[in-house]
Amino acid sequence: MSKVSKKIVRGDFNDLRAVVHYTKAAHRIGLWESERILIERFFPNKSAQLLEAGCGAGRVAVALWEAGYHDIHAFDFAEELLAQAQSLAMEKEADVGFFHADATQLEKCKILEDAHFDGVLFMFNGLMQIPLRRNRRRALRALHHFCRLGAPLMFTTHDREDSKEEQVIWRLEAMRWAKGKEDPILREFGDRYYEDKEIGRTFMHLPERGEILEDLKATGWNHTFDTMRRNVAREPRKVRDFSDECRFWVATKA
Ligand SMILES: C[S@@+](CC[C@H](N)C(=O)[O-])C[C@H]1O[C@@H](n2cnc3c(N)ncnc32)[C@H](O)[C@@H]1O
Repeated sequence: MSKVSKKIVRGDFNDLRAVVHYTKAAHRIGLWESERILIERFFPNKSAQLLEAGCGAGRVAVALWEAGYHDIHAFDFAEELLAQAQSLAMEKEADVGFFHADATQLEKCKILEDAHFDGVLFMFNGLMQIPLRRNRRRALRALHHFCRLGAPLMFTTHDREDSKEEQVIWRLEAMRWAKGKEDPILREFGDRYYEDKEIGRTFMHLPERGEILEDLKATGWNHTFDTMRRNVAREPRKVRDFSDECRFWVATKA
């Protein structure tokens, strides 16, 4: 069996079920309350030049435009999602600079030549959907490269240790890995690859907090803030149905 790869993940995000799921959220949900509060706090300047990585169907980028951030570029590697983002922006007359790119290969991206952003967002666990830690670090390093000094980076992760249930599941999973009995498609401990009838297949790496702190340090980012979503806002039902609890992270370009 082949290991989960970028190609597989991109295929999963281009799957019609995922496209419908993220497009509905872009049209019906927009920014979560927690995202709105933290974006206003860490990205207070609405004229800042912002970059959104893994923009999907445009949920965040188009909502940011509507909130008055009018200098936004946003990219995704899943063509079908990007097409939905572009059509949502057209419908809302939001002038977002959408482009196709892979977060782990941004140096190849002509559009970004000489670009220096005032801030970057990689929302709703997108960074954690890149298989292999070295590739996640590559993306963090590239985003760092295209930012000005002091620029904030915001992203989210799904905690491995947050709930008692997760702790039990991961203790059992650790025993499987110790015996070499883990799902052979997985790359690293902390990976999860699952199927949902409505969304299709999803790959996600669930990190420990210390792992993210190390990755930020290794890629030139200063850890600024992190907390669970529930500490920021109580999200309405439609947001909780779309997305599980997550940890928000903010780092600053050192
Ligand atoms: C969970 S979805 C979130 C989409 C959108 N940000 C939202 O909040 O609705 C994660 C997104 O990250 C994108 N993504 C994952 N790996 C990527 C990569 N290497 N380069 C660019 N985009 C990537 C996926 O295609 C997907 O659109």
